[in-house]
Amino acid sequence: MMYTYRAADWDRYKMDVREPHKPLEPLESEIAVINEALAVLQQAGILPHTSYDRAKMLAFRQAVQERFEIPWTAITPRMQRLIWAINAIVRPANMIAAGVFCGNTFISNAGAAVGPGACYTADNLIGVEIKPDEAARAEGNVRKIDPSGVARIVADDAVKVVREFAGPIHLLYLDADGAGGRGKGVYLDILEACYEKIPTGGVVLAHNSVNCAEKLKFYLEHVRHPQHMRASVNMIVDGEGLEVSVK
Ligand SMILES: C[S@@+](CC[C@H](N)C(=O)[O-])C[C@H]1O[C@@H](n2cnc3c(N)ncnc32)[C@H](O)[C@@H]1O
Repeated sequence: MMYTYRAADWDRYKMDVREPHKPLEPLESEIAVINEALAVLQQAGILPHTSYDRAKMLAFRQAVQERFEIPWTAITPRMQRLIWAINAIVRPANMIAAGVFCGNTFISNAGAAVGPGACYTADNLIGVEIKPDEAARAEGNVRKIDPSGVARIVADDAVKVVREFAGPIHLLYLDADGAGGRGKGVYLDILEACYEKIPTGGVVLAHNSVNCAEKLKFYLEHVRHPQHMRASVNMIVDGEGLEVSVK
């Protein structure tokens, strides 16, 4: 079953990718949009509830702002809150994020379980980045938030990492691009490489469901087919979008 959530102002809500910490709207507006978005995910049967700790979310955000080196990112404050809240609600023991660049998207997921915003304990939080220099920067960023090592970056091809991961993957985040000319089509390669490891109720997040919808055509058709995923919602909170699917 496929649903869509569309914020009224999604196409006017824009950020400068080199100034990711600049507020784009009053905090109350951001919270209200994400409350609506989470309610749709609950209606779709993807989330059990919509409650999350807003103070911890802000503690996480502040730590990223103070400690991370981010050359650019397309993760808007709304998207950061949405991804963090989904992780805080789903509480994945094992989370893998594919294509993490400098680590900002990874920590938007993992920050629900490590660092000053932690609200549960995870077993494995793995960010995968195919470019070794980017992976090294991401690992350096992550270490400044999580000294424990539960959250870590692996420099490798995400298709290989998810295929070789021993254990269930409770939440998979997809953001990889450009590998071998497959572009964002690699999302489907990654999902297919670990589909059997995603348990019933496992959640898959795919960034760029709006601005890369054409490149993600086959991926989106796949997750929106009830044979593959029980429900899938296109979360149009900004111009990038996030497809949220549950197995
Ligand atoms: C465009 S970036 C994602 C940036 C993110 N949306 C943000 O706003 O911060 C995509 C990353 O995926 C990485 N990548 C591409 N193919 C990959 C693969 N097969 N496995 C792991 N990483 C991959 C690229 O090197 C790149 O750093």
